[in-house]
Amino acid sequence: MRIDTPVAIVGAGPAGLLLSHLLHLEGIESVVIEIRSRDYVEHRVRAGVLEQGTVDVLDECGAAERMHREGLVHRGIELRFDGRRHRIDFPGLTGGRSIVVYGQQEVVKDLIRLRLAAGGRILFEADDVSVHDLESSAPRVRFLKGGEEIELACRIVAGCDGFHGVCREAIPAGVLSFYERVYPFAWLGILAQAPPPSEELIYACHERGFALYSMRSPAISRLYLQVAPDEETVNWPDARIWRELNRRLGDGARLDEGPILEKGVTGMRSFIAEPMQFGKLFLAGDAAHIVPPTGAKGLNIAVADVRVLSRAIAEYFASGTETLLKAYSQTCLKRVWRAERFSWWMTAMLHRFPEHDGFQHRLQRSELDYVVSSRAASASLAENYVGLPFDT
Ligand code: APR
Ligand code: PHB
Repeated sequence: MRIDTPVAIVGAGPAGLLLSHLLHLEGIESVVIEIRSRDYVEHRVRAGVLEQGTVDVLDECGAAERMHREGLVHRGIELRFDGRRHRIDFPGLTGGRSIVVYGQQEVVKDLIRLRLAAGGRILFEADDVSVHDLESSAPRVRFLKGGEEIELACRIVAGCDGFHGVCREAIPAGVLSFYERVYPFAWLGILAQAPPPSEELIYACHERGFALYSMRSPAISRLYLQVAPDEETVNWPDARIWRELNRRLGDGARLDEGPILEKGVTGMRSFIAEPMQFGKLFLAGDAAHIVPPTGAKGLNIAVADVRVLSRAIAEYFASGTETLLKAYSQTCLKRVWRAERFSWWMTAMLHRFPEHDGFQHRLQRSELDYVVSSRAASASLAENYVGLPFDT
């Protein structure tokens, strides 16, 4: 079977779904294909910090209604180290900007509902996805759906299929340059039915390793521990997790413990593929770049990418002009690298590195000390955390 569509979008994560919605608002239809089921993508637990700019984009496109009801506005974070506690006050340091804590899978649920309500086509559980003729003006995406072979004949392919997707891999060898750092640790993340010990996120740099306290609602906590890069959850029974969280985050008082609803280990890397384009294939979100989660930037740069891409595609279909499409990669990479720098810096400042000697360890302490004692340094953290304004 052949389906004609102006834009084929590979991947129904936040990038693919939001792109489809933004294009729809520009009067451009698309088909989204996704290898997983709807239930799977709606329940995949990921990070949950929305920058002010991300909130604005969701607001402007009518996708923010539930987020405003259920999301938690946060006006600061706490940094903990050496038994000291310091608050970074976002509005005070950034001219009034803040963030919203709202799970990524909730954004995904909201976008799927919006797309389907508007008659949008999202084909879940697609197998054997492949992309073809990317350098021509008539690229194609092929896949199997329920055993049937389907071909999307389109003019633009958006590769929004995450880090392990097929789109980036389909670009011939030698076209892309890759920039990468793999960190010597991972995060063990849990979702727990336990009330938050604090109203704001706590980033703790502890001699036993980094720990982060976050939340999803007044009754659900999201907590992370720095662990070895090859760590497995079987080595972390619930009691061990709570003991370790109490040591690194406890600050004298015990955390409220509750049933652990979800447990997973995530590796930490920085990765960028340049350029984010090959012919009529445009990469967006995790398909093009990965950040370590310390700065909570992954979802936010994915949103920034598709904001730029939707405008470029709209210009192309309205006038045949490729000016914005040609500038797409360069426009996005500027913001991507700023997020990469910030995420790398937060990661370096807050984690224990096995290879650190006394010199590096003292530099790290001095960096933390500077960040919390200088208004300029606190403001630099705050403006990056709430998100830099869009250039265009
Ligand atoms: N064909 C179709 N879909 C695919 C394929 C494929 N071959 N491979 C992967 N996918 C799907 C995945 O199942 C997933 O639903 O593509 C989607 C990619 O979504 P995400 O991984 O969420 O990536 P993205 O939309 O770019 O969002 C970035 O996700 O990983 C986090 O930290 C990251 O928060 C950031 C956000
Ligand atoms: C989360 O709530 O999942 C979260 C928050 C902040 C981060 C990373 C993850 O830096």
